[in-house]
Amino acid sequence: MWFFNSPKIIFGREAIDQLENPLYVTGTKALVVTDKDLVKLKMVDIVTTHLKAANIEYSIFDGALPDPPLPSVMEGAEACKKYKPDLIIALGGGSVIDTAKAIWILYESEEGFDITGLNPFITLPTGTKAKLIAIPTTSGTGAETTSAVVLTDDKTSLKLELLNKAAIPTIAIVDPIFVDKMPKKLTNSTGFDAISHCIENVCGKWHNIYSDGLASTALRLIFKYLPDAYLKSDPDAREAVHNAATIAGLSFGNAQVHLAHSIGHALGGVFHVPHGFAVGVALPYVMQYLILHDPGSVKVFADTAKTIGVAEWKDADNAAAAKFLKAVQDLQKKVEFPTKLTDLGITKQKLDDNMAKYIDLILQSGAISITPVDVTADLVKKILYCMVDGKKIDF
Ligand SMILES: NC(=O)c1ccc[n+]([C@@H]2O[C@H](COP(=O)([O-])OP(=O)(O)OC[C@H]3O[C@@H](n4cnc5c(N)ncnc54)[C@H](O)[C@@H]3O)[C@@H](O)[C@H]2O)c1
Ligand SMILES: [Fe+2]
Repeated sequence: MWFFNSPKIIFGREAIDQLENPLYVTGTKALVVTDKDLVKLKMVDIVTTHLKAANIEYSIFDGALPDPPLPSVMEGAEACKKYKPDLIIALGGGSVIDTAKAIWILYESEEGFDITGLNPFITLPTGTKAKLIAIPTTSGTGAETTSAVVLTDDKTSLKLELLNKAAIPTIAIVDPIFVDKMPKKLTNSTGFDAISHCIENVCGKWHNIYSDGLASTALRLIFKYLPDAYLKSDPDAREAVHNAATIAGLSFGNAQVHLAHSIGHALGGVFHVPHGFAVGVALPYVMQYLILHDPGSVKVFADTAKTIGVAEWKDADNAAAAKFLKAVQDLQKKVEFPTKLTDLGITKQKLDDNMAKYIDLILQSGAISITPVDVTADLVKKILYCMVDGKKIDF
C-alpha cells in the first residue's frame, strides 16, 4: 500500500489567467507571499492585475529570503494572522513557496505551534481558513507540488527537511511566463535540481511505479530541452523544462530524495551555495558511488537511461548505467554547470575547516535514510574530498 499526493495543477501558457476563474479560485482576500527581487522584476504585478480583475482584495508580504531562515517565516506568519486572508498566493522560487507553506501551516494550526516540529505523522487543518496557490518562478524545486517545507535553522545552519501532506498546495499554476527571462545561472542550477530529484528518487528506497514513470518523463524533457532553455532562452524549451520541473516534483514528492540532497543541503546551509548548484555538483559523485556499490541502482539507472534514450535497449545494465552517468556529465558541460567544489568557491582548506560540521549536518539530514547504501561519516568525508577537485570515485 502506498499513497500518491498532488495539488490541482494548471499548466501551460496563460495558465495564470485562471486566477480569475471562480471555478478554481475561490477567495476574497489574498496574501501574496514573495520576495523583493520578484517585486522589482514586476512579476508580482502580473498576479495583482488578475486579482484586481477578479475583485480579490490583496496584501503583499515580500520578506521571503533564500534558504528561508526561521525569523523570516515567523514574520510572514504574523503578517498573515493580522491580515486574515482566505487565499495565500506564493509567487517565487522554492524559497518563497516553502516560506508560504510554513506561513499557511502556522496560520491554520493552534497558536504556538512549533514549525520545526512539523513531521509526517501529525494531522493539520490546512485548507480550513485559506487555500494555498503556488506559482513557481524557477524551473527546478517542484515545491509547488510537494509536502516538503525546507527551512533553515539560522542558529545551526541545519536545513530542516520538514514533511507533512498538509503542506501540499491546493493549486499549482505552472505558467512559463514567469521563467521566460530567468537568468542563466538560475536556469542551469534549478534545472539540475530537477534532474537530481529524478535520479535520486528512482534509486531511493521509497521509489514506486508512479514516481518512476514521472521521473522518466521529466528527465526525457530536461535532457532534450535544458540546453536550448539555457543557451538560447528558447520559449518552447523554457516551457518544457518548467513543466518537467513540476513533473519531477510530483515524482520525488511521492518518493523523496537522498544523499546528493543531504550533501547539497549542508553546503547550502553553511555556504549559501544556491540549492541547485549544491545538489547538482554532488549528483555525479553519488551516482558513481552507487554504480560501484549498489546493484539495484545499476539496474534502475540502466532502465531509466534506456527509457529516456541515452542508452540502447541492447546494452547490458552496467554499460547502460555508465552511459547514464556520462549523459549527466555531458549535459553539465553543455550548460556550463560547476562540476567540483572549487568551482563553487569551496577550497580544500574551507572544507577541512568545516568538515566536522558538514558531516554532522549531512548525517542529521532526514533524507539520508532513503539512500540505498549505508552512509557513514567516513563515506561522506571521502565523497567530499573527491568533490573538491573533481576526482573520480574509486573506493
Ligand atoms: N519544498 C520542496 O519540495 C523543495 C524542493 C527542492 C528545493 N527546495 C528549496 O528551495 C530553495 C531553492 O529554491 P530555488 O532554487 O527555486 O531558488 P530561490 O527561491 O532560493 O530563489 C533564488 C533567487 O532567484 C530569484 N528568482 C526567482 N525567480 C526568478 C526569476 N524568474 N527571474 C529572476 N530571478 C528570480 C529570487 O528572487 C532569489 O533571489 C532551497 O531552499 C531548497 O532547499 C524545496
Ligand atoms: Fe532539490
